[in-house]
Amino acid sequence: MRTLDDLDVKGRRVLVRADLNVPLDGETITDDGRIRASVPTIRSLVERGAKVVVCAHLGRPKGQVKPEFSLRPVARRLGELLDQDVAFASDVVGDAARATVDTLQDGQVALLENLRYEPGEESKDEAERRAFAERLAGLADLYVGDGFGAVHRKHASVYDVPRLLPHAAGGLVEAEVAVLRRLTDDTERPYVVVLGGAKVSDKLGVIANLLTKVDRLLIGGGMAYTFLKAQGHEVGNSLLQEDQIDQVRGFLDEAGKRGVELVLPVDVLAATGFAADAEHDVVEATAIPADREGLDIGPRTRELFAAKLADAKTVFWNGPMGVFEFDAFSGGTRAVAEALIGSDAFTVVGGGDSAAAVRRLGLPEDGFSHISTGGGASLEYLEGKTLPGLAALED
Ligand code: 3PG
Repeated sequence: MRTLDDLDVKGRRVLVRADLNVPLDGETITDDGRIRASVPTIRSLVERGAKVVVCAHLGRPKGQVKPEFSLRPVARRLGELLDQDVAFASDVVGDAARATVDTLQDGQVALLENLRYEPGEESKDEAERRAFAERLAGLADLYVGDGFGAVHRKHASVYDVPRLLPHAAGGLVEAEVAVLRRLTDDTERPYVVVLGGAKVSDKLGVIANLLTKVDRLLIGGGMAYTFLKAQGHEVGNSLLQEDQIDQVRGFLDEAGKRGVELVLPVDVLAATGFAADAEHDVVEATAIPADREGLDIGPRTRELFAAKLADAKTVFWNGPMGVFEFDAFSGGTRAVAEALIGSDAFTVVGGGDSAAAVRRLGLPEDGFSHISTGGGASLEYLEGKTLPGLAALED
């Protein structure tokens, strides 16, 4: 994969595909982690005298212009972090984009409006996607792929544009791939993976593949209840994916055959309902009352998980252990995060909710070896899939 150093960028228009998909509350950015992670590549291009044209998506407007998905607030924040003005183009490849790019001087930065306002960006129709990619590529001389969180998407800006322009991987993509390689090749053992989050169906592929690689798999969060049910326990009103029970039973068998220790919660915080102030008690994971729902792992599970992480040399963690957005049910996620922070292992937090949880709980980001910006992307990498955005950069 070519890197930034392989491109001669001075005076050239460089299209940077970044992942600036940040959570917004109205126009307020509630977690700017992905913007901060995009800054080093953009700054390096600025310092080398490029005209930097950043493109990115926000949310899922599905080919329609929806003001609540505008990247304008992101342009402001990017400008603050870069300490220079970021021109904002109010369309993606139209008159505004062309005019904005035309006025860029060397070392200046522009951000285009949300790529997903354009139906061509995500189109399954190759010709439609390609036509949009050509318009986007027409705004630049060179392409830098740095939107790690989106490299698993076969979208015009991720997959087609690098085929039309001389290209290189940005520093963020390079760093993320280097970390993921350490989780897939010659991984230092014991290798422990902690998975959580709501849905087991989102993680089927990664669990299947991890069972061939890890020493221990700790399962918490909403998905744990489908595992408990598959073992024959009642889970009350807890989150349950009935249609995944057979698949999960298969994972339990497979783990047994391969000698992988699959560790489930032994106790949970069972609440009267899904609310921040819901009444709750600690109950055995095998005896959740019919009218209660598990919203976090319990204290014995927190200790158990910490013990199972204590001798690890490599840890990958994806997905919260409970409803961390509610203070009363954030203790399990905090306990896992603290166990990682206190560990000497190579610790990687897979993006999405777990990265957001680390920041929301006020935990030190430098307590982990790496916090990925890609949730789905890092999971698909660990699943062993070919990621379109990385394949395009390899060519
Ligand atoms: C993410 O949030 O994981 C990335 O930005 C990709 O977004 P998407 O899941 O909407 O494609």
